[in-house]
Amino acid sequence: MQNQPKQRAQELRTLLSKYGYEYHVLDAPSVDDAVYDSLFGELKKIEAQNPELITPDSPTQRVGNELIGGFKKVTHSSRMLSLNDVFDVKEVEAWVERMDKLLPGRSHEFFADIKMDGLACSLIYQDGLLTQAVTRGDSFVGEDVTANVRTIKNVPLRLHTQKGFKNFLVGRTEIRGEIVMLKKHFEALNKARHAAGEPEFANPRNLAAGTIRQLDPKLVAQRPLSFNAYDVLREDPAEVPTNMFAYEAASALGITRNKQAAVFTTLKDVMTFVNEVEAMRDSLPYNIDGLVIKVNDRAKFRELGIVGKQPRAAVAYKYSPEQATTIVKDIVISIGRTGAATPVAVFDPVVVAGSTVQHASLHNADEIARLDIRVGDTVVIFKAGDIIPQVQSVVTELRPKNASKVNYEILLADQYPELEFERVGKDVVYRVKGADSDLMLKRSVEYYASKGSLDIDTLGEKNVVALVDAGLVKDLADMYALSLDDVLALDRFADISARKLIDAIAEKKNPPLEKFILGLGIRHVGTQTAIDLASQFESMEALSQASIEQLEAVDGIGKVVAESIVAWFADPDNEVLLEKFTSLNVKPQFIKKTGKLVGSAFVITGTLSSMSRDNAADRIRELGGTFQSAVAKDTTYLVAGGKVGGSKLKKAQEYGTKIISEDELMEIIK
Ligand code: IVH
Repeated sequence: MQNQPKQRAQELRTLLSKYGYEYHVLDAPSVDDAVYDSLFGELKKIEAQNPELITPDSPTQRVGNELIGGFKKVTHSSRMLSLNDVFDVKEVEAWVERMDKLLPGRSHEFFADIKMDGLACSLIYQDGLLTQAVTRGDSFVGEDVTANVRTIKNVPLRLHTQKGFKNFLVGRTEIRGEIVMLKKHFEALNKARHAAGEPEFANPRNLAAGTIRQLDPKLVAQRPLSFNAYDVLREDPAEVPTNMFAYEAASALGITRNKQAAVFTTLKDVMTFVNEVEAMRDSLPYNIDGLVIKVNDRAKFRELGIVGKQPRAAVAYKYSPEQATTIVKDIVISIGRTGAATPVAVFDPVVVAGSTVQHASLHNADEIARLDIRVGDTVVIFKAGDIIPQVQSVVTELRPKNASKVNYEILLADQYPELEFERVGKDVVYRVKGADSDLMLKRSVEYYASKGSLDIDTLGEKNVVALVDAGLVKDLADMYALSLDDVLALDRFADISARKLIDAIAEKKNPPLEKFILGLGIRHVGTQTAIDLASQFESMEALSQASIEQLEAVDGIGKVVAESIVAWFADPDNEVLLEKFTSLNVKPQFIKKTGKLVGSAFVITGTLSSMSRDNAADRIRELGGTFQSAVAKDTTYLVAGGKVGGSKLKKAQEYGTKIISEDELMEIIK
């Protein structure tokens, strides 16, 4: 369904160029920055894996902003570089390791500051007097925007003099920093525009960038901008020994810089700072998109050098965006406890607001139609209320040609051929026809309590019916919240029987993981699958986060089962249910298999004369073995109950499976 890398890269380039043009030239972006960044990241990844696909016009091959006409071009005294992005502590550690390799045995002192979301600008002071202001441009050559920058109130036209920093007033001092528009100014401007019926500006950064490139300085003066320094350059670099010193110099010279910037001796402290800044992110006066972390010592900084367009001695720590793009791999339907069908989109895993997301509820058929979401589509994901991932929109420009429109009723029939669905009156949800939600609940509680699953003594059909009818059990977890009084209030129970039931339930608060998984009643997950899942993932937490690929990698699990499992965990009702189990202290335990049959897998064909297949299977599992329904690569024994069919025999020979008789099996499991 997905396009080949070559075609995908081409489509991404075209779309990103369009977005880039809208952003940089028209100052009218049509998508959020996070969407651009996410697609840009995908293109970079494809190009890294297939370098032959890189074209000279790829947006990845550009450093800075587009140079547009109207301003004098100025060559920078030294390149205005960009920074490599890192997204988590592991990547920060990897960065430090790379530096350690180059400068072994020398510990680093780190300097960190907030990364402001504006536009870079370089101010040149000659003998203390502002003579030129230049944008970053393409990193080598920028635009002379002196007249505009002179309107920025916190940019001193003459540097202040202070003891200890007088040398900066002699010769050339270059101050680099970020031009931003404060949030409050941005909001006030937009409010005024709104009142005047004029179109509002997209975001402070665009507005700042657009403003600085205005050809009329009078217009610029009406839009309040601020400058925040992050670098001070002198001809003799020894005059600025550390990055912290550059900040102190900026302050001394009368130039605004972030007061939060600080020096740290350990990475742990840097990470604490990262988290502190993230917590105060919203209360900062301007937008930020992360942190800049640098080696504090500037001689060392220079020694570490540059790779491509980025210095080795600094990184940009980016907070994970609240939006990201990914590709829809499938749309699966989960049937809830009440018989309601909920469609779920399954994605390539993607990090959104700090956690990995691989599925989102699509709610109902109307929502699918509204989004016109299709398998193979590239979609924008965001976190609603910062917790629940949702599909925001479809990037239709990137839709594969063969992606067909979803017909919900056909999808239902495909995935649940055995069921009939109906949509009653104004209900937007399809439900299993005739589904009596109480009946479905009773069945699922019975199944959970049954011998094959958790085997809860005395919680049979009649007791389940009584508990559900009394409204005491509304989901699987509720039974663990029952009190003796609750149960005693029911006609069926007397003192002893009530106590027995409560004890029997309490006894199963730490069930074996595989029994618990089985008891949840996930479609297509039978006894052996539950065992395989438990031994592969070892916890509910890990299982709930497993991707379709990881699930399919488990022997005996195919696409249909994998999807059913992912859909079950994606259903918000089930998420709530699992949390409820946890809060009631129901904690399944994974116990590593022991026994003489660990590592052996059995298939039984035909009928056995001395015991039922189910009992034989139980015994095999008790001894640590696996019971399979068909001969596979890893089948150790094929037990021949009667005559073995030709195809089974052929497979057994192909896989080197040993064929044994019923007597031999009894010998093994006795
Ligand atoms: S230091 C070698 N410090 O982020 C570049 N940059 O990707 C050293 N930025 O071009 C840059 N806040 O426009 C630095 N506190 C900060 C910054 C900052 C924003 C921007 C700047 C730079 C880009 C780097």
